[in-house]
Amino acid sequence: MDFKKMAEELVSKMTIEEKVAQMQQLSENATPKELFETFKKDGKIGSYLHVLGKDTGEFLESAAQTELKIPPIFGIDAIHGHAFLKQATIFPSQLAMACTWEEGVLEKMGEITADEVAADGLNWVFSPVLCLGRDLRWGRVDETFGEDAELCARLGAAIIRGYQKSGKVAACAKHYLAYGEATGGRDAYDIEITERKAREIFLKPFKAAVDEGCLTFMTAYGSIDGEPLTISKRYLTEILKEEFGFDGFVVTDWKNFWCLITGQKTFENMDEACVEGVEAGNDMSMNSYEFYGALIQAVKEGRIAQEVIDNAVRRILSVKARLGLLDEEKTPAPPKECIGCKAHQAYNYEVSVKSAVLLKNNGVLPLKQAKKIAVLGPNADDLPAQYGDWTYTSHRPKDEAIGIEKENEYTLLKGIQEVYKDSEIVYAKGCSVLGSETSAESDLWMQEALELAKGADAVIVAIGDVHAQNGEEQDRAKLVLSGRQNELIKRVKELGKQVIAVLINGKPLELGEMEKYADAVIEAFNTGDMGGLALANLIKGKENFSGKLPISFPYDSAATPCYYNQYEYWHGNKYVDVPKGSPYPFGFGLSYNRYTYGEATLSKTQAKIGDKIELRIPLTNEGDRQGEEIVQLYYKDKVCKTLTPVRTLLDFKKVSLSPKQTCEVSFVIDTNKLGYYDRNCNYQVDEGEFTFFVSGDGKTFKTVNVLLVK
Ligand code: NOJ
Repeated sequence: MDFKKMAEELVSKMTIEEKVAQMQQLSENATPKELFETFKKDGKIGSYLHVLGKDTGEFLESAAQTELKIPPIFGIDAIHGHAFLKQATIFPSQLAMACTWEEGVLEKMGEITADEVAADGLNWVFSPVLCLGRDLRWGRVDETFGEDAELCARLGAAIIRGYQKSGKVAACAKHYLAYGEATGGRDAYDIEITERKAREIFLKPFKAAVDEGCLTFMTAYGSIDGEPLTISKRYLTEILKEEFGFDGFVVTDWKNFWCLITGQKTFENMDEACVEGVEAGNDMSMNSYEFYGALIQAVKEGRIAQEVIDNAVRRILSVKARLGLLDEEKTPAPPKECIGCKAHQAYNYEVSVKSAVLLKNNGVLPLKQAKKIAVLGPNADDLPAQYGDWTYTSHRPKDEAIGIEKENEYTLLKGIQEVYKDSEIVYAKGCSVLGSETSAESDLWMQEALELAKGADAVIVAIGDVHAQNGEEQDRAKLVLSGRQNELIKRVKELGKQVIAVLINGKPLELGEMEKYADAVIEAFNTGDMGGLALANLIKGKENFSGKLPISFPYDSAATPCYYNQYEYWHGNKYVDVPKGSPYPFGFGLSYNRYTYGEATLSKTQAKIGDKIELRIPLTNEGDRQGEEIVQLYYKDKVCKTLTPVRTLLDFKKVSLSPKQTCEVSFVIDTNKLGYYDRNCNYQVDEGEFTFFVSGDGKTFKTVNVLLVK
């Protein structure tokens, strides 16, 4: 099937109104009611977002009544499962899943999500988020794959592979570009980076998305050095479409065109904004409903060339053709019963197990048994906090989910109750996440929890953050455990109890006091439907920890950025009042086993640029359990004309080891990948000495050097 030809044939038959309608995407809650109904009846709008399967009927019927019968493409924020539907499989957040460092997990999760989305009658997921979580204050860190471009590129490509495997669903790489790098961590703000920096870091995951065949891209809200990304011809057309060869279509984010006028104030009206934005490379406008009329007018007045419009419509229709939307006989969608089915939830459970990261354990874990377990803390039984952003609890009307039963929904409390069937389980929240003042009511909560802790043999405390502290426009200046959460842990410890702390939160926080008093700390992030069961089995030792952090923890809210790949610099790159670096850095994560690394060796200690070298390193599982270790390989060009980070992640592998087993881990290194971008943005690999670092914890390294020659 020649998709481009199908698109071309349609374009040749379309009026200008029909073409521009294809370039418009609308949602009901961002369009005046009457206008929305008119568009809906007319049947020509190219795309709708946030329509659930149950509501697609009328849109499809009116499209079928039009002469060309082009159906809309339905987009949905299914970013960790088709989570706007309560009955769907809600996976851990992207950040949590990144802790698996496992491309296979992301691919399979993508496949499951796409099947559920397609079964619901939709065809486009606004995922993955390929922004980097380098500024922890930013509200959307939970949506990222963490702080590193290589890890993000590989996991991003894997999830795209999964989403698009069946050919029924398009993925969307977003938000292009560098959205998370906004100054001050402020959502949708200006970004102070150069093109060199963009190439070194931020473009990498997006290039990988193009290479993976990602069908759509979403423009970021922000601006780079004062130029809104919505009108950046350089990034949208010259780099993305021409240099990288992206042949899908670009959609703006929510009301980006409107924002050019009202927020960024680079245009007085939509007449000019739409022309410049489309010429820059946006093919579809999300909301900004004024776009439709203004663009038609611009074409009629000759202010924008027909060919620019035709190109955008060709791209949109080619994607529709590839997804089979233009076929007369549609291939059947997956059965509706697959939505949230047992097999999907069983996989979701595995994902949650692999996503949890053990940060600290003084021996209190595994907790094999206990007569009486006190489960405390504000996040022990709070499903919305456990889900995080972009689910039916954060983004849909409350009454929509009422009456929908869901068997597989495990808070930590429910998981502990199920896994420790022979124990007595008592529960109190102890404090709330928001609101730090002591009051009569909060004193009562605290007292109740402490009473329960007193009489218990084991205490598990779930703390963290809530949705109000994460998400769009919800950046935080203080990355602390808010409210009385630290106090709760401290006071339980003062009772002479061992404390198992479980963090259920959107992003790394300053752990402060809590970390001193907790005997074990587990980071679960937003862990999805099955999180509670997975955590309970991990606590009991029925499962083993294997997750590693894709992002570094701060010592202090103000001691950021704390990502691992900083420049060394001559004044030490530190503050005088907090330790340097991160208490739990990128790559860190314990297990019930201890893994030891031998010495790394290279197949050649001198190599030509372009050669491949093999690095081998022995790895031993000193423990008595089966386990999985994530082996990380970093490199550094020791002397380089442009500054290079202290280390850069080059590759990683997950290795499965039996008790007491030793194996040899091997990496084949392509020396072409050891380069950097010079000041003219040219990529090059220099001669000279390079160091390779192998690590399992992001803190200790086995190193070996190679000399590269021409
Ligand atoms: C705004 C968000 O930035 C983006 O991630 C999302 O996909 C769209 N709105 C649609 O909801």
